[in-house]
Amino acid sequence: MNWLWESDAMVAAMRARPVGNLPEGVSGISIDTRTLQEGDAYFAIRGDRVDGHDYVSAAMKAGAALAVVAEEKLVALGGLNIPLLVVRDVLKAMELLASAARARSKARIVAVTGSVGKTTTKEMLRTVLAASGAVHASVASFNNHWGVPLTLARLPLEARFGVFEIGMNHPGEIRPLTKLVRPHVAVITNVAPVHLGAFDGVDGIARAKAEIFEGVVAGGYGLINHDDKRFRLLARLAGEAGIEHLVTFGRKRGSDFRLKASGEGENGAGFSAVLRGDAVSGQFHLPGDHLLDNLMAVLGVAHLTGANVEKSVAAAATIGAVKGRGQRHGLQNGRAKFTLIDESYNANPASMRAALLTLGQARTGSRGKRIAVLGDMLELGTASVKLHRELAEPIGEAGIDRVYTIGTEIAVLGAALDRKVFGGHFKTWQAAEKPLGESLRAGDVIMLKASNGLRFGDLVEAMTRNYSVKPD
Ligand SMILES: Nc1ncnc2c1ncn2[C@@H]1O[C@H](COP(=O)(O)OP(=O)(O)O)[C@@H](O)[C@H]1O
Ligand SMILES: [Mg+2]
Repeated sequence: MNWLWESDAMVAAMRARPVGNLPEGVSGISIDTRTLQEGDAYFAIRGDRVDGHDYVSAAMKAGAALAVVAEEKLVALGGLNIPLLVVRDVLKAMELLASAARARSKARIVAVTGSVGKTTTKEMLRTVLAASGAVHASVASFNNHWGVPLTLARLPLEARFGVFEIGMNHPGEIRPLTKLVRPHVAVITNVAPVHLGAFDGVDGIARAKAEIFEGVVAGGYGLINHDDKRFRLLARLAGEAGIEHLVTFGRKRGSDFRLKASGEGENGAGFSAVLRGDAVSGQFHLPGDHLLDNLMAVLGVAHLTGANVEKSVAAAATIGAVKGRGQRHGLQNGRAKFTLIDESYNANPASMRAALLTLGQARTGSRGKRIAVLGDMLELGTASVKLHRELAEPIGEAGIDRVYTIGTEIAVLGAALDRKVFGGHFKTWQAAEKPLGESLRAGDVIMLKASNGLRFGDLVEAMTRNYSVKPD
């Protein structure tokens, strides 16, 4: 059997005290009994809402091979019929196991941070690097103080590439995570006002993102966005962090990985790029200039990690949209066919702008309109009113025909819009569902975007259910 971890190795790495009859090894790591697979080691982590120690018997029933628990909880757990690894602190033990995974790995390790596009870029990397060898990458947005060590502890010995999303809401959060991951390549997708509440302006955000450089291995790379407003600041911070090779992706002349052109081709959109002096061209089927920016970062990583560049470029054609981040659905209201763009996953000024510009380029039917349904962007602190009002700019620039707003903070936007463009404001998505549906006409393209807290995912689900295409 090819174990992820042999029990002995776990005991040694975590300095754990074994209790009961340990299995030879475990096939995976889990911190959630709802997704636990038979043969996994269950780590009883304390989360924001629940303590994993309350679920040890559920883990046992789900088929966990062993459980990692805290010494101080042992008495309260009582007699359990599952082998245990007892440690002082379960999260700390997972970090130690993560360190051991990193130490034994021969994979090329990539860390991705940035204000927007981390998950999208990570998923694109998963697809592109897989053309060259086995890829291990973070699940969903597992990018925080438990998500990163969990992902690293799961790194299989045979992986050729490891891709780690690293996120933050506050200064100082990225530093310990990048030091755990020790990337060969650290990518910053961009810097923008997101979670502004906790920061001293956007420069403060740039400084927090630049912490990612502090964990890069000797001789490793920093890869940053040449077109970003804070490019110079990031370059300086990379130097201060001791990055030996700073490389860039973008559209600007002089970028190491440079997008030269993109456009509609016979099979979707074609692109041409220059990767460190080598001209390449390929196909890429996702709409949106921001995704092409991410693609340049991805091809840059492929180049820097020794992936096969030709295969990487070819794999770009197979990249699909990530759920809630630009997925398109063909739907039908009576006889009227329309397109829904699902951007429900999240929203901030940068991703709103990108999504609005992408909607502006979407192809409508002959009399179709481009409609944006926008909800609150949360966590913007005192800048909230201004940043919501300023959405009028990309809306105008993109030539959006109609805008509906949903929520609270975004209520200020309506007054900043042209009277012909503003369609109305609703407090909740439930209140908007019916009027929105009734306003749709043949050929329309409707894009829904808000912070996750507005639950637009539920609105998308309701609409895709109500307006699913019926066979003729
Ligand atoms: N480079 C980019 N610039 C602007 N917006 C982007 C970029 N990449 C992705 N997005 C958009 O940002 C939103 C969040 O994307 P996601 O990849 O989940 O970011 P993160 O993981 O950083 O939160 C989505 O709407 C996505 O389409
Ligand atoms: Mg994410």
